[in-house]
Order: sequence, then structure tokens, then C-alpha cells
Amino acid sequence: MRIPITLAFVASSVSWSSRVYAATVATDVAVGVDATVSTDSASAGSASSIFGSYFLSESIVGHDFYNHFNWENISDPTHGRVVYVDEKTSVQHNLTYAKYNSFVLRTDNKAILDPDGPGRESVRIITKKSYTTHVAVFDVRHMPQGCGTWPAIWSTTAPPDPSWPNGGEVDIVEGVNDQGPNAATLHTTTGCTMPETRPQLGTPGQNDCDWLVNYNTGCTVKMSGPNTYGPSFNANGGGWFVTERTGDHISVWFWQRNDPKVPFDVKYGSPITTPRTWGKPQAFFPNTNCDFKKFFAPHHIIINLTLCGDWAGQADVYASSGCPSTCLDYVNNNPAAFSNAYFDFASVRIYQPTPFLHNRGHHSTF
Ligand SMILES: *[C@@H]1O[C@H](CO)[C@@H](O)[C@H](O)[C@H]1NC(C)=O
Ligand SMILES: *[C@@H]1O[C@H](CO)[C@@H](O)[C@H](O)[C@H]1NC(C)=O
Ligand SMILES: *[C@@H]1O[C@H](CO)[C@@H](O)[C@H](O)[C@H]1NC(C)=O
Repeated sequence: MRIPITLAFVASSVSWSSRVYAATVATDVAVGVDATVSTDSASAGSASSIFGSYFLSESIVGHDFYNHFNWENISDPTHGRVVYVDEKTSVQHNLTYAKYNSFVLRTDNKAILDPDGPGRESVRIITKKSYTTHVAVFDVRHMPQGCGTWPAIWSTTAPPDPSWPNGGEVDIVEGVNDQGPNAATLHTTTGCTMPETRPQLGTPGQNDCDWLVNYNTGCTVKMSGPNTYGPSFNANGGGWFVTERTGDHISVWFWQRNDPKVPFDVKYGSPITTPRTWGKPQAFFPNTNCDFKKFFAPHHIIINLTLCGDWAGQADVYASSGCPSTCLDYVNNNPAAFSNAYFDFASVRIYQPTPFLHNRGHHSTF
């Protein structure tokens, strides 16, 4: 599979040409190899990508979000002060809004709430498809900010796969009350831990991913460097969060908008992408002490925005963020405080290991 725009990449950027060329070569080889290997159902869905390259399978921009995601108007499992609305309501109330290059997802910023009535309207969306070995690139211009906000980009299981916590959870973007840095976290059932020392830029916290340890803290890594979360992320024009999941590791990278080192394939949404050329991730979760087949089912990606609830709304967490009043009172009475409580996505791009045979197993070479 030749990628015609490779030539344009080469012509426009000498410094990127060798990387793109290498990726193109890997593509050709991968296709050749794949044609000759037989399906190996034991490794289906969990094998590493051949030669570490992946192929664009979904490019979700603007109105595409309505085709690739379902709206979940469920009651908030984390007890937030929100009502998740259905798709029709979210469009009618302008809580989701799409144009050619942008998808905005927000919480209501108009209503004053009856303290005994329902919460502030908000949105939670989930991909229609699920993924095992894949790369997901989130190009985010803006994330929800404000006291009481608890936004998340994450992935977990959905029926018919086993329900949470069986099947695991991967948090890519998460935080509360504007407090950076961003953290990447795994949550599993009992028996999955991470080594203390691993090749990553971020700072590990708890290394036991078991949801029963310390009230579902999970094995977490705080990102290093500036502008990974909240107001400073937004002021800087956002950036790229990227995950790679294979049979032997889960990695999360972040590049801020003006980072001169953001890889070309991430920045420009290339048709193929090669994470092993990107350098150390912010968070690296190997399968050394964690049997991924046992702890991680196929995952759907979820984007949600709740207010207060089990984390953001804890009295000490809320107060130590320098936020006024109580979380509930603030959310009920200050709609205008949520005018910046929105995500603006430039795109979400999903890459899979093979261009034509997404559900087919193959032998991993690395
Ligand atoms: C979700 O939306 C549907 C359709 O509008 C509605 O019938 C249902 O009651 C809603 N569920 C919740 C939990 O709000
Ligand atoms: C939102 O995302 C987080 C992932 O970090 C998850 O733990 C939580 O259950 C989600 N909350 C809601 C309300 O959907
Ligand atoms: C809906 O939201 C978008 C994005 O925030 C905004 O540009 C637009 O003006 C809003 N439309 C209305 C009718 O409020």
C-alpha cells in the first residue's frame, strides 16, 4: 500500500522525510508478511502490530462524531451533579455542536438549578466500535475547565464484553477542579501491577492497578512538562494525547500544541503511524506483572464531563483546589462559571495494525 502524500511530506519537510520514508517501507513489508501468515485466533486482537506501524481506520472530524459515537444518557455512575442527555437533546440545547473542523461537547451554562431537582445537563459519548491493538490520537483544542469540572477521555468495556471492573479501564485524560498535571491511569481487577521503574517521562504514583486498593486509585502516572491539563492546556491551544495498546504494553503520549517535537504522523493525521519512532511516552504500562488478556477486554472510548461527584466533589479535594463555596452550591447557582466547561476536538483518529483485515490475528514480530 503506497501512500501518495508521502512525496508531499518529503518535499515540504526535509527533516521529516526519513521518518516518513521508513514508515512507508514498513507498510509495504507489513502487507507482504500479512498475506502469508495464517490466522492465529489465540493471539487475535492482542498481537503487536507488525513492525510497529498502524493504519488509519477511522478519522473522526466535525460531524463524523455523530456517526462514530453513541450518546449515553445514563445516570452518572460517579454521582456527579449532571444529567447526561440523549443525542437529540444535546443538539437542541447546543451541548454538542459540530462544524467542518470542530466538535464541541459541553455542559449547560444557562440554568440555575433547584437543589432538590436534577443536575446540570451534560454529555457522555462512547464509540460504537471497540478496539484491542490500536493507536488513538486525540487532537484536543480545549478541555473543560472550571471549579467542579471532572472531564475524562478514557476507555473501558461495554456489553457484550464483561462489565467494569472486569475488562479494565484506561484513563487518558482525567483531572478535577482545574488541577494539573494530567494523569494516565489503569484500573483492573486484582492481580495487575506495574514495575516502579519503566521507560516513561511521567511520575508513577500507586503501582497496583487493582480497583479494590485505596478506593480505586489505580496505577497512575502524572505527566511531566507544562500544559498537560486544564486552564494552561487551554491557554496554550491544547495538544495531542495519544494511546497505543498492544498485547504487551499500553502507552500514553502527550505533546502540547507548540511542541517542536510532535511527530509528523500525529500532527498531520498521516494514513500510517509508527509509535516506536516517537520516543518515550509520558506513561508506559508493560504486561510484565499484568496478564493483559486476563485484565483487558476490547475497549470502547468514552468522552465524559461530569461535575462534582465522587472525586471532584469530595469536600477536601474541592476546597484544596481553591474553589469557592461547596461544589454542589457552586454548580447549582453559577451557570456562567461553566462557559469554559467544554471540549473542542479537532479530531479523533483510530489506527489499527492491518489495513484490510482488522479482525484478523497475525504473528507479532517484535
Ligand atoms: C434517555 O433518553 C431516552 C430518549 O429520550 C429516554 O426515553 C430515557 O428516559 C432517557 N434515560 C435517562 C436515564 O435519562
Ligand atoms: C468519567 O470518566 C472517568 C474516567 O476517568 C470514569 O471513572 C467515570 O466513571 C466517568 N464518569 C462518568 C460520570 O461518566
Ligand atoms: C453553539 O455552540 C457553538 C460552539 O460553542 C457556538 O459557536 C455557537 O454560537 C452556539 N450556538 C448557539 C445558537 O448558541
